[in-house]
Amino acid sequence: MPQSMNPEYQNNKETTPKVRIAAYPGSFDPVTCGHLDIIRRSAKQFDRLVVAVLNNTSKNPLFSVEERKELLREATKDLPNVEIDSFRDLTVRFMRSKGADVIVRGIRSVTDFEYELMLASTNHQLDKDIETVFMMTNPKYSYLSSSIVKEIAQFDGEVHDLVPPGVEIALKEKYRERKAQQ
Ligand SMILES: Nc1ncnc2c1ncn2[C@@H]1O[C@H](COP(=O)(O)OP(=O)(O)OP(=O)(O)O)[C@@H](O)[C@H]1O
Ligand SMILES: [Mg+2]
Repeated sequence: MPQSMNPEYQNNKETTPKVRIAAYPGSFDPVTCGHLDIIRRSAKQFDRLVVAVLNNTSKNPLFSVEERKELLREATKDLPNVEIDSFRDLTVRFMRSKGADVIVRGIRSVTDFEYELMLASTNHQLDKDIETVFMMTNPKYSYLSSSIVKEIAQFDGEVHDLVPPGVEIALKEKYRERKAQQ
């Protein structure tokens, strides 16, 4: 029987399938192929995925929040259910504002696990309706981080296989500008 004719589904909020919205927060300074792998895989698991750039004043970022969002937008333009946003608030409060109740995070190593466990427990403590879902890294990218990419690019090393094309160009421009200023 089609769902629309099934009396159990008619006007029944309890049984109407809910739109699942997840958020993937991070610094994304800049987005790497490791992040993109997590984005692509989690976009398949949820109706909507909000990739959220954390506007963290305590770090000294290479790219501005606007630049990071633009690089993410370009890298995810073929994914219609992925939205790019930024926030400067408690993650759980940002989630509420988006109607999201699942936090997506990636795990590369035991070190990531320990830190992520602490974060997930804290967020769950702050809001019991929020769950964190972990995606294991693609082994190809298990050593990849934004920091490593910046270390390599700073010394004109090859980052072609580590970041999307727009990021490769943006990194070259950024470090060229910096060298010109020195
Ligand atoms: N290569 C990767 N594979 C799987 N998950 C990843 C990868 N890189 C980052 N993540 C996950 O993405 C989330 C956001 O990470 P974050 O913005 O700190 O990126 P990062 O690459 O670790 O940057 P940084 O070097 O600045 O710490 C975290 O859950 C992190 O574990
Ligand atoms: Mg990190």
